Amino acid sequence: MCSTKKSFGVSAHHTMRFAVIVTGASRGLGRALAIAFASRLHADGAEGTFILLGRDGTGMENTATLLQAALPGVVTIVQSMDLADLDTVEGSWQAALRELQSSGQRVDAAILVNNSGSLGELKPVRELTSLASISSVVTLNVTSVIWLTSLFLRSLRAGAIVGGASGPPLAHSSAATSHIVNVSSLCAVKAFPSQSLYCAGKAARDMLHAVVADEEAAPDAAFPVR
Ligand SMILES: NC(=O)c1ccc[n+]([C@@H]2O[C@H](COP(=O)([O-])OP(=O)(O)OC[C@H]3O[C@@H](n4cnc5c(N)ncnc54)[C@H](OP(=O)(O)O)[C@@H]3O)[C@@H](O)[C@H]2O)c1
Repeated sequence: MCSTKKSFGVSAHHTMRFAVIVTGASRGLGRALAIAFASRLHADGAEGTFILLGRDGTGMENTATLLQAALPGVVTIVQSMDLADLDTVEGSWQAALRELQSSGQRVDAAILVNNSGSLGELKPVRELTSLASISSVVTLNVTSVIWLTSLFLRSLRAGAIVGGASGPPLAHSSAATSHIVNVSSLCAVKAFPSQSLYCAGKAARDMLHAVVADEEAAPDAAFPVR
């Protein structure tokens, strides 16, 4: 994961408002990252709507409660999403966007945090005997990330994320740049025996995000993404 010292603050026009979308926000690093983003927005005088994605509703509700303490006035949307069940991901994504739109909150820029992931079976490749098990880990660690990133980028371009009831977004402002964050691992660049599924998935994710960064690099994009 990369860090940034960029300030998410008050622009010349109004207080910046971010939509922060976190996969696997029910516990662990996903919860910690959501709280860290909320604290950072609070420190910078910015506002936020958080979309928490995952399967464990209770865990995500607990994260939402913690977000209230980190960023007073934060709007939280808890949306069930099983990233290992690809056929249902787009429907869950659209449901989250409907909630965002009906919240009536303006959004200037969005941050997608691709956090969910799984170690999968910890065995040498020669002992991986279940195709279903291999496929399910690759689906969660790689395919779902490509799919959700595509949904995010298409929704941005369609104007379904930024904008909102209380005024136009800060389009074409460097402050209004959206971001995609990949939670990676040392396993993306170093081989660890018995972690083939995890290492391969993290390496693939790193390259996916490098390609997306190149694709979205045009300085005149209507909805810039970094
Ligand atoms: N912990 C570490 O030391 C470490 C180090 C480097 C990188 N990472 C990376 O950090 C990320 C989070 O790791 P963690 O340690 O916080 O793991 P964790 O505590 O096991 O949490 C995993 C998260 O992924 C979500 N998830 C799992 N299966 C899912 C599914 N089918 N659909 C949607 N969400 C799903 C879980 O949410 P639900 O159960 O609610 O679905 C949970 O919030 C992973 O990408 C991991 O590879 C972790």
